[in-house]
Amino acid sequence: MAKRNKITIVGSGNVGATAAHWAVTKELGDVVLIDIIDGIPQGKGLDLFESTPIEGSDCRVLGTNDYKDTANSDVVVITAGSPRKPGMSRDDLLNINVKIVKAVTEQVAKYSPNSILVIVSNPLDAMAYVAQKVSGFPKNRVVGMAGVLDTARFRTFIADALNVSVKDVSTLVLGGHGDEMVPFPRLTTVGGVPLTELMPKDKIEKLVDRARKGGGEIVNLLKTGSAFYAPGAAAIEMVEAILKDKKRILPCAAYLEGQYGAKGIYLGVPVILGANGVEKVIELKLNEEEKAALNKSIQAVQELISKIQL
Ligand code: NAI
Ligand code: 2OP
Repeated sequence: MAKRNKITIVGSGNVGATAAHWAVTKELGDVVLIDIIDGIPQGKGLDLFESTPIEGSDCRVLGTNDYKDTANSDVVVITAGSPRKPGMSRDDLLNINVKIVKAVTEQVAKYSPNSILVIVSNPLDAMAYVAQKVSGFPKNRVVGMAGVLDTARFRTFIADALNVSVKDVSTLVLGGHGDEMVPFPRLTTVGGVPLTELMPKDKIEKLVDRARKGGGEIVNLLKTGSAFYAPGAAAIEMVEAILKDKKRILPCAAYLEGQYGAKGIYLGVPVILGANGVEKVIELKLNEEEKAALNKSIQAVQELISKIQL
C-alpha cells in the first residue's frame, strides 16, 4: 500500500505557513509545521487542517515545537530565520540566520536522516551551504529555492507586458539570489517565440531590472517583512517535483563542483529535480557578457560564504 508523503516545514511564519497551504492544496502529503514559538505552528497547523474538508484534501496537518513529530519526513523545507526589513539586503541577514539554520538543520538531520532539504532562509545560497555542511547529507539532497521565485517574477512581468498567458513564458535566471542574479533574456521564450523578437531591447532591460529587484520591491511595499505568496508557491513547486519524481528542469541553488567555474559553493543553476533531489546540474554555453555577469554573482556568493563560521 502506498504511504503518504511526510513534509516538514520549519518556520511557521509567512513563507512557512504559505508553503504549508500550497502543499495541502496540492495534496502532496501530511504536513508538519514547526517553529520555535509556542502556539504559532499549533494554531496555524490546526486552522489549515480544518480547511482540508473544504478543499477535499486528505492531508493531516500538525503544528509543533518538538522535532520528534517531524521524524522520518521525506522532504523538509527550511524557512526559519529573519526576513528583511526596508534598507536591509539579504546579505545583512547572514549572521542571524547562520545560527538559526545551523540549529534547525542539526535537529532535522537527527530526526529525518533520509530526507531531502529544500532551503528557503536568506541569504539563500549561503544558507543552503550551511545546511549541507551541518547535515552532512550528500549534496544532491540539499537544494536551495530562489531561481523558481526569481523566474516566476520575470515571467509575471513579461506576460503582463505582452498581455499573454503566464503559462507560455519560459525563462531562466542564474546565479546567487542577490542583487547580482543573472536573468537570461536570450533564453526566454513566449510560446516558443524568442522574447527578443517580441519586445525591444530597452523594454526587456527594464523587466530584467525589475525582476532582479523583485524581492526589494515587495519589501518596500510591505514595510515589514518580505514576500511570501510567490516564495511559498516556489518552494512547493520544488517539493512536488521531488515527491512526484517529476524530473523538472528548474533553476535551483545547487552545490557546484567546477560547473560554471564555481567550486564548493551553492549557486542558482538549471538542474533536474526528482526523487533523488538534484539529479543533474545542467551546464549551458554562455556568451562572454553572460559569463562576466555570472562571475560577478559567483564572487558575491563566494565572499559571503567565506564569512560563515560554523
Ligand atoms: P517570518 O519572520 O514570517 O517567519 C520566520 C519564522 O522562523 C518565524 O515564525 C520564527 O519564529 C521562525 N524561527 C526563528 N528561529 C527559529 C528556529 N530556531 N527554529 C524554528 N523556527 C524559527 O519570515 P518569512 O517571511 O517566513 O521568511 C523566512 C525566511 O525566508 C527569511 O530568511 C527570508 O529572508 C527568507 N526568504 C527567502 C526567499 C527565497 O527566495 N529564498 C523568499 C522569501 C523569504
Ligand atoms: C525575495 O526575493 C526576500 O528573498 C526574498 O522576496
